[in-house]
Amino acid sequence: MSAPDHVRIFDTTLRDGEQSPGCSMSPQQKAVMARALAELGVDIIETGFPASSQSDCEAAALIARDLRETTLCVLSRCLPGDIETSARVLEAAARPRLHVFLSTSPLHREHKLRMSKDEVLETTARNVAYARSFVDDVEFSTEDGTRTEEDFLAEVIGVAIAAGATTINVPDTLGYTTPAEMRGLFQRLIATVPGARDVVFSAHCHNDLGMAVANSLAAIEGGARQVECTINGIGERAGNCAMEELVMALKVRGAYFEADTRIDTRLLVPTSQLLSRLVGMPVQRNKAIVGANAFAHESGIHQHGMLRDRRTYEIMNPEDVGWPSSQMVLGRHSGRAAVAHRLRALGHALEDEALDLVFAGFKSLCEKQRVVDDGDLQRLMHGDRDGDSDGYRLASMTVSDRGQRASAQVELSDPGGQRVSESALGDGPVDALFAALAAATDVDLTLESYQVHSVGIGNDARGEANLSVRHDDAEYQGTGTSKDIIEASALAWLDIANRVLRNRQPQDLTLSRLRERVG
Ligand code: KIV
Ligand code: ZN
Repeated sequence: MSAPDHVRIFDTTLRDGEQSPGCSMSPQQKAVMARALAELGVDIIETGFPASSQSDCEAAALIARDLRETTLCVLSRCLPGDIETSARVLEAAARPRLHVFLSTSPLHREHKLRMSKDEVLETTARNVAYARSFVDDVEFSTEDGTRTEEDFLAEVIGVAIAAGATTINVPDTLGYTTPAEMRGLFQRLIATVPGARDVVFSAHCHNDLGMAVANSLAAIEGGARQVECTINGIGERAGNCAMEELVMALKVRGAYFEADTRIDTRLLVPTSQLLSRLVGMPVQRNKAIVGANAFAHESGIHQHGMLRDRRTYEIMNPEDVGWPSSQMVLGRHSGRAAVAHRLRALGHALEDEALDLVFAGFKSLCEKQRVVDDGDLQRLMHGDRDGDSDGYRLASMTVSDRGQRASAQVELSDPGGQRVSESALGDGPVDALFAALAAATDVDLTLESYQVHSVGIGNDARGEANLSVRHDDAEYQGTGTSKDIIEASALAWLDIANRVLRNRQPQDLTLSRLRERVG
């Protein structure tokens, strides 16, 4: 079997994405995003449209100083002034690309450019050659290319190649085309335009009819070897081709497309979440790959299948795109097997009567609320409406990392309301903190994973800590949220410790409480 063809990923989140309503970013935010895109493995980052604003110039220059391995591209109209501004901004770039565009369709020629066909041809030739006088890597885009007469489109592309363009981008600017049309167009252009086989053809699809990803994939089938896309599909109007969807379609259906990208797919979800936080635009829950429901299962039939073999209802592994795992959402449609499974993960291996009782309680809770989470299950188990009231609570803490070893002191109020304080040393502040908490509660947890991230932006940002630990062969997950990330870590640790302590209660006591509760 031959190696799959490499499709270049040209990311335009910082240009086409950023110019869409509600998505603007400061130069510093763009620099953060550009670093994440480089780590993700994109081949080309379009950093902005320098002639359009001082902020775009600053961002492009900032990113050019920072990223030396990725090709950095900026956009220009076919105007000498734009091209000069772009060339100045790109001076600091290690791998510069100049991207020039001109509309080619009858509507744009007549109403926007007021140019004849000959003027479009001449303007293309002159400006592509001028861009080539600054850099060797020049991309030319035929704006509204898919609504252009095909013979004229081919002529413009031929002129751009002759003038030195090394990448030819044919945008579906209005998201109007269908996949079959796109595939045919690329096939014919590449087969007939002089010099087409010496350059890279690129697709740039908008999503007005929801076909941006399908059209980009069809362009690849037609011979395109670069796709222009954005994280989360942000972009003008309904957006651009969503990178995460395109990349995973090529990966999951590799045998069909015989093409692949260099994207590290495990970074797709973190990068999507970073963008959401930076621009303050949440991703819809049912969005493919990066939406919260993309690997969530609620119906009893699906959950049952998933528990036997996840391939029954998943075509890719959530871990491969950066989710920690699939999610079994417990709600009205869930069955007993899924509830038992989740209870086991929380450390309650229930059988028969106890499970029947909890499941009955679960069903009646589902009449009142859409989703039953781990906290609700714990409350059902312990007949304790306000959950943590009988657990340890954090009263105060001090963590210092100044000496040879970090130290932490914690003061807790215990389940009986008494104060307990303990201190400990550790290899770092979090290690010391967890050791002090273990000493204060007499609960020993083996840390398996520890993740922190920020939720929200600006003054509203809060730190969220997620812990995964082992205790007596059971696995527990805990979450804590606070303005202070160390405090969030302590809350996550206590969240788990309190559950471990509740599970130490004898089962018959739990059963009698359950009977009382469920009636
Ligand atoms: O949609 C479009 O046509 C564009 C070009 C400027 C590449 O964004
Ligand atoms: Zn566009």
